[in-house]
Amino acid sequence: MEKHPTILGVFSGVLGTILVAIAVWLTVVYTGAYNVAASDQHFDAVRWSFDTTMRRSVASRAGGADLPQNPSENLVAEGAGYYAESCAQCHGGPGKDPAEWSRGMRPEPPHLTEAATEWTGEEIHWIVTNGIKMTGMPAFGGRHSSEEITAIAAFVSALPGLTADDYTRLTGSAQGPAEETPSSDARGPAEPPAEAIQPPSE
Ligand code: HEC
Repeated sequence: MEKHPTILGVFSGVLGTILVAIAVWLTVVYTGAYNVAASDQHFDAVRWSFDTTMRRSVASRAGGADLPQNPSENLVAEGAGYYAESCAQCHGGPGKDPAEWSRGMRPEPPHLTEAATEWTGEEIHWIVTNGIKMTGMPAFGGRHSSEEITAIAAFVSALPGLTADDYTRLTGSAQGPAEETPSSDARGPAEPPAEAIQPPSE
């Protein structure tokens, strides 16, 4: 008999707390109280929440990519070519600063030469394939095959040990093959096969 009022009390306490939380949330959303300006830093608590959510989310989802234990120099060079083309503007490279505009992003894309030590190859493969919501980190999975992303992950994992000279050598040697395969774009051929092209009938 005595238990019922207690359970009811706990229930209305929890319900009250949930309603207050919803009210605070809606007030922040509708009043424009939160400053979305990228010229401002996130509050520490907001930054911590995003960062921790991202790290836990990636750690629990990454896996299943078939990454070579000791990637060949060729694979790393192939990855370097893609990296110079699609990543260095935001993440920089050994001896190479990121593009100036990327410093205006929130969160600011980290210099991967250091940040890569914090991630396993499989996590890097997952991040590059899927991107990270609300950060500006794009998903490359739709435009690059899993093999190409394996090459990128092999290169990013190798980044912390590379010098500026290594980077110049690798990106220099990889630019040829990377440019020879512009249709590595997975959206399919942009044009019909050559024999199907007819001169305009006018
Ligand atoms: C338009 C800018 C942009 C481009 C291009 C870009 N990234 Fe990112 N990347 C980001 C941002 C922003 C984050 C999130 C940083 C954060 O949350 O701290 C990020 C995060 C990452 C992370 C996690 C690093 C960390 O410690 O937070 C990895 C790994 C990464 N990117 C790899 C790549 C690779 C490889 C490419 C190219 C295939 C690439 N990115 C292209 C902006 C970019």
